[in-house]
Amino acid sequence: MWFYPKIIAHRGGGTLAPENTIAALQCGLSHGFHAVEFDVMLSADGVPVLMHDPHFGRTVRGEGQVALTSAADLGKLDAGAWFDARFSGEPVPAYEQAVHFCKSNGIWMNVEIKPAPGHEVETGRVVGEVTRRLFAKEIAAAERSASQGNASGLPLFSSFSFDALGQAAKAAPEIPRGFLLDTISPDWQERLEALGAIALHTNHKKLSREQAAEVKRAGYGLFCYTVNDPERARELLAWGVDAFCTDRIDLIGHDFAA
Ligand code: G3P
Ligand code: MG
Repeated sequence: MWFYPKIIAHRGGGTLAPENTIAALQCGLSHGFHAVEFDVMLSADGVPVLMHDPHFGRTVRGEGQVALTSAADLGKLDAGAWFDARFSGEPVPAYEQAVHFCKSNGIWMNVEIKPAPGHEVETGRVVGEVTRRLFAKEIAAAERSASQGNASGLPLFSSFSFDALGQAAKAAPEIPRGFLLDTISPDWQERLEALGAIALHTNHKKLSREQAAEVKRAGYGLFCYTVNDPERARELLAWGVDAFCTDRIDLIGHDFAA
């Protein structure tokens, strides 16, 4: 049901580093985290990059849009200065760079496919294809051992976009999937079944103990975002929540669930 780490650094390093950068991944790692979540969006020329917002203005200066900017130009933007001057010049990383960093440092990845509006199908397909290429060896190893991705170092895709996740499933059926729902809808199980998803990812603020029990009874993994209060984290784990991501990697350690 859940073969992955239980405590995951949100956007790389939570609130301790500029989100979705290599510096953030480094920060998570320096806090002992070997599990991260990050967001992946497509550039204008179809290259997956780490980015949360479709528009510039928050983490990178200016007025552009990710989906209208080439990967080369995105790579020149400063994604660190907004956070703190000591991160000035930190670039927007390509997804491939982030995967390389994580693989070389033994970091497990929850890859959130975050399409810019209107780019759902293309984003899911491309992230699926790129991931399948980057994890070809791990996919082969998983097939040999007939495991579900636990020992093989496969990442886990997630997305709020049903269409994007469906495309990722077609392009890379071997990579497991979790469907993100901010609020658990009555048809949640049908949607997971249609996607062949192994887990439901949901907002812990809207989750009840009864819903958690229902998801677990149905045999799915249950992942929550974004849990920053240790007391709430303990409660969720006691409800049977399998894993969560956190911004407070300083308060909730990688070994919190141990
Ligand atoms: O994947 C969990 C969480 O990251 C979803 O929300 O907006 O932080 O990407 P967001
Ligand atoms: Mg995310």
